[in-house]
Amino acid sequence: MFENLTKAPGDKILALMGEYAADSRSTKIDLGVGVYKDEQGVTPVMRSVRKAEERILSNEKTKTYLGIAGNMGYGAAVLDLVLADSIDRSRVRIAQAPGGTGSLWVLMQLINRARPGATVYVSDPTWANHNPIATNSGLKVATYPYFDPETRGVKFEQMLAALDRMGAEDVVLLHGCCHNPTGANLTDAQWDQVAESLVRTGALPFVDLAYLGFGDGIGADAYGTRKILSSVPEALIAFSGSKNFGLYRERVGAAILVARNAEQAETTNSQLLNIIRGAYSQPPDHGAEIIRTILEDASLRAEWEEELALMRNRMISLRKKLADAIRDRSNSTDFDFVADHRGMFSLLGLTNDAVEHLKATNGVYMTGDSRINVAGIPEDRVGDLADAFLGAVR
Ligand code: LMR
Repeated sequence: MFENLTKAPGDKILALMGEYAADSRSTKIDLGVGVYKDEQGVTPVMRSVRKAEERILSNEKTKTYLGIAGNMGYGAAVLDLVLADSIDRSRVRIAQAPGGTGSLWVLMQLINRARPGATVYVSDPTWANHNPIATNSGLKVATYPYFDPETRGVKFEQMLAALDRMGAEDVVLLHGCCHNPTGANLTDAQWDQVAESLVRTGALPFVDLAYLGFGDGIGADAYGTRKILSSVPEALIAFSGSKNFGLYRERVGAAILVARNAEQAETTNSQLLNIIRGAYSQPPDHGAEIIRTILEDASLRAEWEEELALMRNRMISLRKKLADAIRDRSNSTDFDFVADHRGMFSLLGLTNDAVEHLKATNGVYMTGDSRINVAGIPEDRVGDLADAFLGAVR
């Protein structure tokens, strides 16, 4: 059976975790995989999550099946969190799915059922897993211009021109906030223009919302998603609770679909549920029940928002510290963009050789495209990192 198989490529982001773990140097620094780390370098279980889990443990009465769409209380709470009052809910359906990736996967399957072999346009560059999820679902992948390596900002005019050339049969994958891998994001005014372009062309917006609350705050980070939803007739959203609730290994996310009207929402949702049933039947509950418990309880929700703000502000402060340290040492503003970026990542624009050099010489780990996870910067090693980055670009 298996003799015809050739070896599949490993996942570059997850492989880095193994490489880092195997490095015995005590001075190593992990800026690789996108997980939040606190001052101690630990990815903590959030206090609000722990409290919700304690409640669940003592109150849970059954482990019976939930249904294909998963935890409905979770679904309603996530819709409130993500959409607020941007759209009439009769056109919206939500299904809990295993993480942001699982949500992307079921929605890509849905696109392929609606329009087999459709093209999904992704930003250049985009998260390394977007392409495999799309092609594994039978879709084609093409890119639209996004990151400007000169300014380390968004090439907005070129991006908009590319969006304007799309047709109603195309799908545009947008990072709702905290762009992965670049850290360069659209302004509110640019989101307004993207929404206008989508209305003009009829292309289907597909928002990957994996870092809500990690950029400038929940409302600010949801601006683009809500703007698009209030403008277009149809849209898809893949939500993740991995980062903002720190629930990485619980695999909790949600696939959200917006249709032209309630009837089409019902029909489209029946296909989505059919896809889920034929794949993993129904999602696991624990992560979703944690999020439902937090979002439905005023005091747990306030505590979660406080913890989220703490994580966000720590990442913003680390960005500033690194940019300041590099500026102080080099007398140049070349790395100031790190402080302007938002979310967990910044794309430094280093060559692959420089990335390999940093790993071999300094024990600094980042993905091959020179993406750093700013949450991984140890507070007391900012100067060492600044020296290492400057050494690598010289
Ligand atoms: C990342 O981009 O590092 C994270 O989203 C983790 C992953 O699954 O790739």
